[in-house]
Amino acid sequence: MAVGIFDSGLGGLTVLNAAQTRLPDVEFLYFADSAHAPYGVRDAEDIYQLTRSAVNDLWNRGCNLVILACNTASAAALRRMQEEGVPEGKRVLGVFVPLIEALTERQWGDNSPPREVETKHVALFATPATVSSRAFQRELAFRAIGVDVEAQSCGGVVDAIEDGDMILAEALVRSHVDALKRKMPHPQAAILGCTHYPLMEKSFQEALGPGVKVFRQGSLVADSLVDYLGRHPDMAGAGKGGYLTTGDPRRVSDRATQFLRRQISFEAA
Ligand code: DGL
Repeated sequence: MAVGIFDSGLGGLTVLNAAQTRLPDVEFLYFADSAHAPYGVRDAEDIYQLTRSAVNDLWNRGCNLVILACNTASAAALRRMQEEGVPEGKRVLGVFVPLIEALTERQWGDNSPPREVETKHVALFATPATVSSRAFQRELAFRAIGVDVEAQSCGGVVDAIEDGDMILAEALVRSHVDALKRKMPHPQAAILGCTHYPLMEKSFQEALGPGVKVFRQGSLVADSLVDYLGRHPDMAGAGKGGYLTTGDPRRVSDRATQFLRRQISFEAA
């Protein structure tokens, strides 16, 4: 039994890495649905079915808690999965809320009414499916008033990262930031609303300029996981962690090793 971390591909490694640093004694079982990535260009039903099947797999392998380290799955599938009910003793959580709590200067789990916050002009960079779901804006509206969000759907970036073509990924990031700036010339903050994008954080920050505060999920999700497991220690379990992929394990291992700069070995899911 280990904590499950799910993503369509390699992006969730940015969350896994932060979680492993904060929780060195916890085992993690990472699942990359590489055969079906990217999710961001799929419709909501498709994303739901793929996410559901991967999460079921992680539950069946003994995980009690699964983190959707994927904004696209969190936006398109999480609420439906929770509403339909999860098996007894199992939980599935997403990655939106910790980030929005940080942006709106809230403590973990603060459910007080929405209020005015310091940051008023926010750029959201996410996949086409996350942008069209408007899930980010919905969660933000529960917590803050008067925040202007301009969303930029970043087509192509996830594919380029999954293919290891970082030159293309960088060029795409620059052109998506330019497109965003035409709509919102002076954002105060930028949300990297896809777990793949922190792998390109330097490019986002350079294109946005030094005055823009960039929010990403890794450490924020890790902090909220520390808090959650402190309150629900039984959800951490013990036992075998590892790395699973529906794609080619050798290829996925090579990319993951390149991104995390340590040896990562995936096995076939
Ligand atoms: N890393 C994912 C996310 O956070 C998925 C991207 C994709 O598969 O398109 O949205």
